[in-house]
Amino acid sequence: VLDSKDLKIKNVTDQSTGQQLSYSLGDKLEVFGSRLEIRLPTTNGNKLNISIEYDTSPEASAFQWLTADQTAGKRQPYLFSQCQAIHCRSFVPCQDTPSVKFPYTAKITAPKEITLLMSAISTGSETDSSDSTKSIYRFEQKVPIPSYLIAIVGGDLESRDIGPRSKVWSEKEFVDAAAFEFSETETMLKTAEDLCGPYVWGRYDLLVLPPSFPYGGMENPCLTFVTPTLLAGDKSLADVVAHEISHSWTGNLVTNKNPEHFWLNEGHTVFVERKIQGRMNGEPLRQLSAAEGWNDLQQSVVDVLKNGPYTKLIPDLRGVDPDDAFSIVPYEKGFTLLYHLETILGGPDEFEPFLKAYIEKFKYKSIDSTQWKDFLFSFFQSKVDVLNKVDWDTWFSAVGMPPIKPEYDESLAVPCQELCDKWSASSDSDLSQFSAKDITMLTSNQIRIFLYKVLLLESPLSLIKVKKMEELYKFNDRKNSEIRLKWLLLCLKVHWEDSIQYALKFVNEQGRMKFVRPIYRALYAWEGSRDTAIKNFLSKRPEMHTTTAELVAKDLHLGSS
Ligand code: BES
Ligand code: ZN
Repeated sequence: VLDSKDLKIKNVTDQSTGQQLSYSLGDKLEVFGSRLEIRLPTTNGNKLNISIEYDTSPEASAFQWLTADQTAGKRQPYLFSQCQAIHCRSFVPCQDTPSVKFPYTAKITAPKEITLLMSAISTGSETDSSDSTKSIYRFEQKVPIPSYLIAIVGGDLESRDIGPRSKVWSEKEFVDAAAFEFSETETMLKTAEDLCGPYVWGRYDLLVLPPSFPYGGMENPCLTFVTPTLLAGDKSLADVVAHEISHSWTGNLVTNKNPEHFWLNEGHTVFVERKIQGRMNGEPLRQLSAAEGWNDLQQSVVDVLKNGPYTKLIPDLRGVDPDDAFSIVPYEKGFTLLYHLETILGGPDEFEPFLKAYIEKFKYKSIDSTQWKDFLFSFFQSKVDVLNKVDWDTWFSAVGMPPIKPEYDESLAVPCQELCDKWSASSDSDLSQFSAKDITMLTSNQIRIFLYKVLLLESPLSLIKVKKMEELYKFNDRKNSEIRLKWLLLCLKVHWEDSIQYALKFVNEQGRMKFVRPIYRALYAWEGSRDTAIKNFLSKRPEMHTTTAELVAKDLHLGSS
């Protein structure tokens, strides 16, 4: 029994005998697709080799097809896939669950103007001998992977070397900016190897996608996919790359058995990502990111998810579309648990060896939280009394914020807090104490944190103050997408009419859900912008990525499709 979704199955053949096999396709379920049941011949214990001939549909949820006009260079059309969590079934009939792993090879034919890449090692390309307008590409992924890590991209792509095992790929228009932005990739890889063990995937290339890519990054093996919104020219957004690099161990080697244990993938990955950051940029920056993560978690748990069922570290996802359940809870609650454990078990010297041993123990496997916990207890045999004091039930199964809030050193945020306090305390009629110089000493990171603090103030700033901020600090001109997000949320919160056009511009020029969804939700929350937001969405929907469009439709309380 295989998963399939919107696939047109043409025939199924037993390769050793050439015999056609009978099969049936179950009723189509929304989200999950149809079960493809194949009747197998008796095998007498021998291996079977079967082939399935099929067509994918133009609506396949794994793909976005862009016309040449929708690309930066406008020369060639573009195709990219996003299989996580359960879209692979619209690409390949397969056991579309992370509990099953397999190696793969692929042979792909494409128009010769198109460069094709997959989440695998390239084993060569040649002109198609039967049609000289086409090229044939071959790939091999020898390491067994879950289906969600199959990936493909085709377009007018170029590359630049950025390290001994790394290239960056993108349309010609972005390739130099990308090479600059991701120049620390090799250092990150080495730092990750030091923490997690040898890198087994051979190459680590990066692909910068068109703006509609719905995520910040996707850890496709050998070829991480990233959003072009990282290209702000100030290198402050490279944490996404540290994150995706970390998945080469936590996620891609040790894999969650199903999406309910997604925190094993993402919580450990955020933990490793911040370890890399601490080693490369100093412990204070790691502490700051952790503190920010806590604030993000609180906002998501309380304001967005209203302490609902998806705020559990291990939620019940039977019958649920994993895309609907997606939030930062598995990331940040998972991180918080690991950070807390590190603290009570004696710090990094004790905990980092556990991390390495955990990866060694479960590499090439798919596991659940009980297996993780059992291994934790066996590794820290001499500290079982410490582990027994942890309130595991609450951590794993309770809704809401974690039972314990770790202490983080927020010294790097002090200037952000001070500036925020100053704005909060001043009166609307005396803003002369502020000047453009207030922020010249702050990093992009600190500016974002300043804005975040202002955004979260119990009694919001007045519109007058926010307008003054724009006059002095010129936030509307910023390219850094994290700053734009926080700034626009602030403007919308204080109901600044002029900001609506900037917010629409932001959601129309890129499709990263982390930015698009909160902005649309804020536009919806304010009556003054609600109708404009809905009108804008409906007119842009046909060009949007299906996943983004479906989720935004829900954010705007519209029906699907
Ligand atoms: N694997 C995720 C992206 C993902 C999750 C895609 C679930 C589909 C379903 C990726 O590693 C990720 O977490 N990306 C983050 C990066 C951030 C945490 C640095 C993102 O896209 O924002
Ligand atoms: Zn991740």
